[in-house]
Amino acid sequence: MKIVASYSNKGGVGKTASSVNLAHGLAQSGLRVLLCDLDPQGASGFYFRVKPSKKLTDERFFTDVKRFTDSIRGSDYENLDILPSNLTFRDFDVFLSRMKNSRSRLHKALKSVASDYDIVLLDCPPNLSTLSENVFASADAILVPVIPTTLSERSFEQLLEFFAETKLSKKKILGFFSMVQGTKKLHAETIARMRQDYPKRLLDIAVPFSTDVEKMGVHRAPVATFAASSPAARSYDALRHELQQRL
Ligand SMILES: Nc1ncnc2c1ncn2[C@@H]1O[C@H](COP(=O)(O)OP(=O)(O)O)[C@@H](O)[C@H]1O
Ligand SMILES: [Mg+2]
Repeated sequence: MKIVASYSNKGGVGKTASSVNLAHGLAQSGLRVLLCDLDPQGASGFYFRVKPSKKLTDERFFTDVKRFTDSIRGSDYENLDILPSNLTFRDFDVFLSRMKNSRSRLHKALKSVASDYDIVLLDCPPNLSTLSENVFASADAILVPVIPTTLSERSFEQLLEFFAETKLSKKKILGFFSMVQGTKKLHAETIARMRQDYPKRLLDIAVPFSTDVEKMGVHRAPVATFAASSPAARSYDALRHELQQRL
């Protein structure tokens, strides 16, 4: 079982959009996929029409295997299950602070479903917390959507610095450009500079800005289900390919 996180310290960069579309694409390709919504806002669960989990409201998320597995829901799609979040997921750091080995708890919880899934996707909240450290420790790959603007570039740098300081392997970090607008000079310049600065840490694929992605909220479904041949759907498919090659 591989664990892939969609992570950024910044909000609104495309973590959920990429999690949802990748989860769907990977499941369509025949892999058994679990999408864990770790963000208390529950956007991933919303897109897949899955209700918030009621049982996972305390630290037993990390310790009670039965509670964890009982909270996993099926989706409308074959091979794709969802672990929906709820508002108490905002307290993960409080739960973790009470536990020993507080940085390896998520990995332990996920190991309990290792024989049921080929890939687990983690849709992460936008912060740098003990939960994030659990994500960094457990993930085989960390996808980081980067909008090619100054602040996103800065938060990508900060993430790499954090990895260096805490002696984590940077090899896990796979950035990709998100919401790219070809007409914007700043986008083109930022992409060119970052590709030079971080040649190994950035995937080739770039996800374009597209209203089809915004329409996911109306359809409550992955892009490929209602706009299969759109540039957005094609780019998420290419992202899936590149990710699978890297794994
Ligand atoms: N490629 C894209 N093109 C246009 N809008 C996008 C794209 N990716 C995401 N969005 C929109 O931007 C907002 C934030 O995206 P989301 O995936 O929820 O970000 P995050 O999970 O990082 O907070 C949402 O309204 C979403 O519909
Ligand atoms: Mg999100």
